[in-house]
Amino acid sequence: MKYLNNILSAVGNTPLVKLNKINKGLKPLIFAKLESANPGGSVKDRIGLSMIEEAEKNGRIKPGGTIIEATSGNTGIGLALACAVKGYKSIFVVTDKVSSEKINYLKALGGDVIVVSNAVNHEHPDYYITVAKKINLETPNSLFMYQYSNPANPEVHYRTTGPEIWEQTDGRITHFISGIGTGGTISGVGRYLKEKNKDVQIIGADPFGSIFKTFHETGKITTGQPYLVEGIGQDCLPKNVHFRYIDKVLNISDMDSFNYARRLSKEEGIFCGGSTGTNLGITLRLAEDLDENAIMVFIVSDTGERYLSKFHSEEWLREKRLLPSEVKTLKDVTLAKRKNKIPELVFLNPKDKVKSAVEALDIKGFSQLPVIDNGESVGSVREAKLMSMLLENPGLLDSEIEKVMGPGFPTLDERTELVVVRKYLSDSPAVLSTEYGRIKDIITRYDILEHANFS
Ligand SMILES: Cc1ncc(COP(=O)(O)O)c(C=O)c1O
Repeated sequence: MKYLNNILSAVGNTPLVKLNKINKGLKPLIFAKLESANPGGSVKDRIGLSMIEEAEKNGRIKPGGTIIEATSGNTGIGLALACAVKGYKSIFVVTDKVSSEKINYLKALGGDVIVVSNAVNHEHPDYYITVAKKINLETPNSLFMYQYSNPANPEVHYRTTGPEIWEQTDGRITHFISGIGTGGTISGVGRYLKEKNKDVQIIGADPFGSIFKTFHETGKITTGQPYLVEGIGQDCLPKNVHFRYIDKVLNISDMDSFNYARRLSKEEGIFCGGSTGTNLGITLRLAEDLDENAIMVFIVSDTGERYLSKFHSEEWLREKRLLPSEVKTLKDVTLAKRKNKIPELVFLNPKDKVKSAVEALDIKGFSQLPVIDNGESVGSVREAKLMSMLLENPGLLDSEIEKVMGPGFPTLDERTELVVVRKYLSDSPAVLSTEYGRIKDIITRYDILEHANFS
């Protein structure tokens, strides 16, 4: 007879599936690592089991004990599965952003679920992690798993997911793409793959609004903005995100994430959640610039069944104004401007003389111009500010622009939705729009007002 001793033995050893249609015209081989094929339907089954096994090994959980976790749902399901088999009680604290399918699933596996608001920040007493910690203190013989800093989280990916991917690609993987929630997947897999071959590129796929990309690039912690994709991105830095194994973090919008998740389901039959769409979108974007030697693996974090009442439903997408035809991006604004025959991007070089900036502002009638050096945004010149500096010190006319320029305009991918762009335009009069990393256009507040409502 061929059988497993219990359902927990079915966790891991997930398939690697080649993409055949959605990547049409791209040169790399692209594979989906099907974590949705775990018995609980997500990548989190691995850590549910490993965190409990680690606690058992260290004597931190006793028979009849209670497992407590703050979770976006999937970790809860992984833990609840293990608790069901091993006979522990479980209590899960989730935010009201989590789909009702996930909440009902947790209950079906025997867990107690406490729902708190998603609209409070981490200093608020109702923050979901704070609530979980409090329940832990009040419940005898209980253990708070805390996936955000529990070392058994990245460890299981180092021990299992990483080696599986390495073996399944015959050691030929060149790019690994994963979302970052607790950081467990990317840190554990990243560490393993880098040990095997330091040149494997480890890429974080991050929703616009999350703080990871900016932190990775500048070391600065910014204020997070709300977004709709579940399970990935953060407004603070979990201990389990080990940035030393991450080469690059790239952003993508909610609309693109959901769109790619729906296409993966429709075109390849891989039914998945929104964070998988985030991973796929970034993978396809990177693949544009790679050749046939690239072998890319992205994580299918969970199954689409969990989101049937959310982005897999047209009504929900319409309500959230996320249907592609109803949402405008920076690229739409550029196209509308071109229809009205506004010329290509005008910019200044930091070594140009201030005189030429005055001419450009005056003759062409711009009120601000970007300063670009070697394709990078390095500063900006704003008419009002420059004029007041010149009134005080006319000698500046012969100085170089870098002496008088202000901070550069924010740079955003041209596929960024205008709802996201609007947030940037409250602090800056303009943003720069990029196509695959190359600056293509400047979009001002005026452009948005003028063109955003075109039909
Ligand atoms: C749907 C989904 N995708 C991705 C992730 C991110 O994985 P990790 O926490 O290992 O960074 C999570 C984590 O909660 C998740 O629920």
